[in-house]
Parts: sequence; structure tokens; C-alpha cells
Amino acid sequence: MDDTKAQIDRLVEQLNHHNYLYHVLDAPEISDEQYDSMFRLLLKYEKQYGYTPPNSPSLRVGAPPLDKFDKAVHSFPMLSLDDIFFIDDVDEFDRRVKKLLQADYVAYTAEPKYDGLAVALTYENGHLTRAATRGDGTTGEDVTQNVRTIKTVPLSIIDMGTGDDIPELIEIRGEIYMAKADFEELNIQRELNSLPLFANPRNAAAGSIRQLDPAVTAERKLRITCYGAGIIKGLTLYSQTELVHWLKKHLFPTPYRFQPAKDIYEAIDYIKDVEIARAALPFNIDGVVVKVDDFTLRQRLGDKTRSPRWAVAYKYQAHQAQTRILNIVPSIGRTGVITPVAILEPVSVGGVTVSRSTLHNWDEIRRKDIHTGDTVVIERAGDVIPHIMWVVEHDAASVTQVVEPLVCPECGSRAVREDGGTVLRCVGLNCPPQLQGRIIHFASRAALNIDGLGEKIAVTLFESGLVKDFTDIFRLTKEDLEKLPRFAEKSAVNLIQAIEKSKTTTLARFIFALGVRHSGEFASRLIAQHYETIEALYGVKADALSLIKQMGDKTSSAISEFFADARNIETIETLKTLGVTITNPDFSTAENKDTGTKDSGRRLAGLTFVITGTLPVSRKDVEGQIRGAGGAVSASVSKQTTCLIAGESPGSKLDKARALGVRTVSYDEYMVIFGPFSE
Ligand code: IVH
Repeated sequence: MDDTKAQIDRLVEQLNHHNYLYHVLDAPEISDEQYDSMFRLLLKYEKQYGYTPPNSPSLRVGAPPLDKFDKAVHSFPMLSLDDIFFIDDVDEFDRRVKKLLQADYVAYTAEPKYDGLAVALTYENGHLTRAATRGDGTTGEDVTQNVRTIKTVPLSIIDMGTGDDIPELIEIRGEIYMAKADFEELNIQRELNSLPLFANPRNAAAGSIRQLDPAVTAERKLRITCYGAGIIKGLTLYSQTELVHWLKKHLFPTPYRFQPAKDIYEAIDYIKDVEIARAALPFNIDGVVVKVDDFTLRQRLGDKTRSPRWAVAYKYQAHQAQTRILNIVPSIGRTGVITPVAILEPVSVGGVTVSRSTLHNWDEIRRKDIHTGDTVVIERAGDVIPHIMWVVEHDAASVTQVVEPLVCPECGSRAVREDGGTVLRCVGLNCPPQLQGRIIHFASRAALNIDGLGEKIAVTLFESGLVKDFTDIFRLTKEDLEKLPRFAEKSAVNLIQAIEKSKTTTLARFIFALGVRHSGEFASRLIAQHYETIEALYGVKADALSLIKQMGDKTSSAISEFFADARNIETIETLKTLGVTITNPDFSTAENKDTGTKDSGRRLAGLTFVITGTLPVSRKDVEGQIRGAGGAVSASVSKQTTCLIAGESPGSKLDKARALGVRTVSYDEYMVIFGPFSE
């Protein structure tokens, strides 16, 4: 047992070391696969011997969800900072400090002001025992389980060989944040899954920490930087510089470019340097925090109610400039949203040359009354992408009205106003900018389940140019794959086999795999229960789909828009010629049985109609149309009836339909909703 215990300890130590190299230093020394094998071995040993060290990486996952967060009272209040906006105010801060201290020289530190949320991490005898949010400054929420999942938060403070510096108690304070790239990726994934988007990385970080289920937090790529301390017992630190060195030595991430400044001028230089570097940083900062370095001096200065006297936050100005709009062109993003982009006369804003600006949507152009040729004020706020703030001047000579595109500029598929709102989106399955995301989804487990075609391989296939189009997946050969860097003969054979296997699939999976907006696994299954074949969906109307019980309106219109696009149908037809075979075991309910009549659209498959009263045309003809389009006609109204067509002088069927909540339409409405019947 002792041997095994030592082995577990060693594994934990090695894994933590590699974790640090990977996540903090960005310099891994072993492959992900090697890491995973070691991790699996650790899990096995820990389970087998019932021993889990307190700093084991296995503790970062797996805690059960909570009902609510406990309250957490802070050792000292977590204060806020006074904001200042001008360099003169930095000077003023320095004068005030010196005056209060009656000192001629005061040393400071400068560090970025991270745009995230503050947390306090309590370590007792070196082990992380509590992590709390700031809350109202006095009392926050206990988010220990969630903070544990953040890979760069040390679970234990390790003795780095000096033997004496693990404090009995230390509360470390820092900021949890999300990198810009991780935020964008998260929103792309949310968009693909029809989840509401986060407005900015700070909201994403805060939302992720306030998750009751730690498994959700574990999936979000959160980071931390540590810049302060609350209560400390068993260790004396004399300054911010010492604190940051101590934190660094014990493997805590610390502020990027942390800098001691011997006087306020060095701090001001730092503010200017970081302002230039700011746009290119991988995370958002909204300023620089200047702090008195020496802790004894801090104590003499003391605090005001909300903020300390020994620190200030210099906030960067939003950058603005004037320029002219040369053109407005549609631009399409990875999730298919088509946004108007203004091409600008190049202008320098805060040291960066700007020549493009996104206008968020097509309504904004109208609202802000923006035209080509206008002179506008643009602003670069916290991020790199500049925004058009307002129009300064319309140039009467060259002003042109901007026209919203009807088709996607990249692939020519239909551009659709989503849910009748402001977002314009391309519905094209084969649209190049969307392709990578679509294929990753298409191959995923709940979709076509192509084993081995994950994100990394999808990217490789794109970058190599082997997959330029949706259908290319099914054209891949073993020889193609073997030429790629990641592939040995065996993995090439495996992927080809997996692709081959995925060709036989069900309609529910196939619909889900298409990645239509608002169409998750449940909706896809519902559709498959009511439409026997994929062809039955070609040209399907939203109104017909929304008659399916439990089907949402958004899904109905998204599916209908998707199948109204000729290019999408062409892509699906090509997939079929490449061997994709779609069966439909879900289509089984009695009223869905084929009526035996032929209709290429089969638009009404699964729908049951009842007719009452006198129609303007022969009832027989209408019955024929319905059956011809795959629908069923029944003599009496029941809960199973999807729709009652009521002509003049309707009988008791109308009352019954009303009583059962069955939808009733006139003949004309029926024609509009379910027609045309001429194909
Ligand atoms: S020092 C009393 N340092 O800014 C000292 N705060 O406006 C307060 N923040 O609640 C903290 N980066 O969430 C400090 N390098 C940094 C910071 C930082 C971001 C946040 C923190 C704090 C808020 C105060």
C-alpha cells in the first residue's frame, strides 16, 4: 500500500507539473495522449486503493451539482477601486499619497486591470478549502467546487524546497476571466446549439462560475490571475512585489507584465505601453491598477468605505476617430450570420489603423441612417473591432442607400431574417465559412457519429484542402488521408471505415446532423416521426410542421427555410448519390401510414385532415389532393386530427374540433398553408 501511495503521489506531482507547463506556461513537454494515459492510470489507482491526495487533478472534475451556493463571509472586505481617466489624475493620486504619508518618494506597482470577476481563494495548511465570489464585498458565494475545475488554480501550495514558507492560512485574491478566443469559441458553440449568447468575456466568466453544476464550469475555459491577499497567518510578506513573487514561486498565475515602479513616472510609462499592447492581448483589460507597493505604507493610508486609498484604477478611454464609409458589403461569419461591414477610408485609432467596421445588423444601418459616402465617428472600445457610433455628415453627392442581400455573398444560398428579427442568416449547408463548424457537428456522436472525425481532424482536412465542400467527406480515400500529417495507415483505414459505416443512418440523426437552427435531437426525432423520408421535407411549409405536437414555431420556420433552399437539396441529393442511405425507424404511428397515393413532395405525410361543410370545390378533389401529398383524411374529429377544414354550414364536427382544441381552417387558408397541389 505504501508503495502504491507513493506511486499515486508521484503521479499527482507529475500531472500537476505538466498541467502547469501546459496551462500556465503554454509550453507542454508531453503529448495530450501521454497526459491522458497518466491521468487514467491515476484514476484507476485512486479508485483501487481508496486514496486521493488533496491536490489530485482528479478532484477538478466530478463534484455533484448543488441546489444553491452557500454564503461566504470574507476575512477582510473585498473592496472596489476608484476609477480615474486622465494621466493628470495619476499624478494627482501620487501627490495625495505622498501628502498623506508625508513622504518624498513612494514606490508603486502597476498591473493590468483584468476584466473578469474577483474571487478569494482560502488555503488552509496549503490546501484550497474555499473559493468565494466578491458578492457585496463583505459576503460572497461559496463557489469552491467550480473554482476547483479551473486548471490553473493550484489545489495545494507546494513547498518549493525552502521548507518554511507554506502559511497556516492564506487568502489569495484574484480575477477569474475568459480569454477572447475561448469566449468567441464558446459563443460559436452556443449559437450552433441555439443557446443565448454571452455579451462579453466577463459575462461568460461570471455566468460560468455561477453554475450550480461544476461539470458545466469544467467545460468552460476559465483562467485566473492572482494579484492580492486577504488574511495571512504563518507568513509575512512586506510588499506587492514580494506577494507576486511568492505567488509565482508557488505556481499561481500572476498579472501579465506585472511591474514594480520606483516612482509614479514609471507607472505612467507602463500605462502608456500597455495601452498600445492592449488590443493584441489575448484577454480583455479595461485599464491598469496602480498600487502602493509597501504593505506598511498601505496600512498607514487605510481605506475609504468602498475603496482603498493606496490604489487606483486608470481606465483606458474608448478610442474614437472620424472617417468616411467607402462601401458597405455583406460579410458572413462562421455561424452563418450575414452582417454588414463598412469599408472605411483607413484611419488611425489609438495607434491601430482601422479600415473596416462591423455594423451589427441591417436594421442598425437604417436606425443610424448610415449610407455609403457618409462621414462617421468610429470607436474602438475594449476590443479590436471598431464600431460606427454616429454619422457626422451625409455626402450628398455620393450617398447610396444600402440594400440588404437576398442571398449569401459566399455561397448563394438564401439569406433569411431569423425568427422575423434583425439577424440575417445564410441557410446554406455548403457555405464555406460555416463548413468547418457544420462538419464537426455533422460527424458528432448524436449526428452521423463518424468515429475519429473530431475537431482536430476536421481542421486538418480543411487546411489540407481535401474537404472543400460538404460532400467531400464521402469522397475521401485512404490514400488521401495517408498524405496528411496526423495519419498513419491504420488511422486512415479506421476513418474511412467510420465514414463508410456512417453512410447508413436514420432520418432523425440525419436531420439533426444538418445543423438547422433550433433543431436539436428532440425536434429532429419529432420530424422523423411525422415525415417518412427526407424527400418529404423538400419544400415543406412551416405551418405544416408546426401542426406537429410539441414542435416549436422557431424550429418549424428554420426547417422550412432550410428545405426551401435549392442548393441544400442539391447537396443532400449528392450525399445520396455518394451512398448515404437514410432509413426511418421512428416513422411508425398508425396515422402516418402511407395512403398508397403518389406525390413527389409528400408534404402532408403524417397529417390527418377532416372536412366539414360545403367547400368551394369538390370535396373529393380536396381529399384526393391530401392523400396525393401523403396526408390522411378521416371522417370524424379526434385528438389525432391535425386540422379541420371547415366549409359553409359546417356541422357538429366544428364544435367537436373546438372542444378538443383541434385547429380549424377555411378552404382558402388550407390552400395557402398546405398548397400548392399542382406538382
Ligand atoms: S486590486 C482593493 N488588481 O477590479 C483592491 N483588482 O474595481 C482591489 N481587478 O474587484 C483589487 N484586475 O475584480 C486589483 N490587477 C488587479 C485587478 C483588479 C482586475 C478588479 C477586481 C476588483 C475590481 C475593482
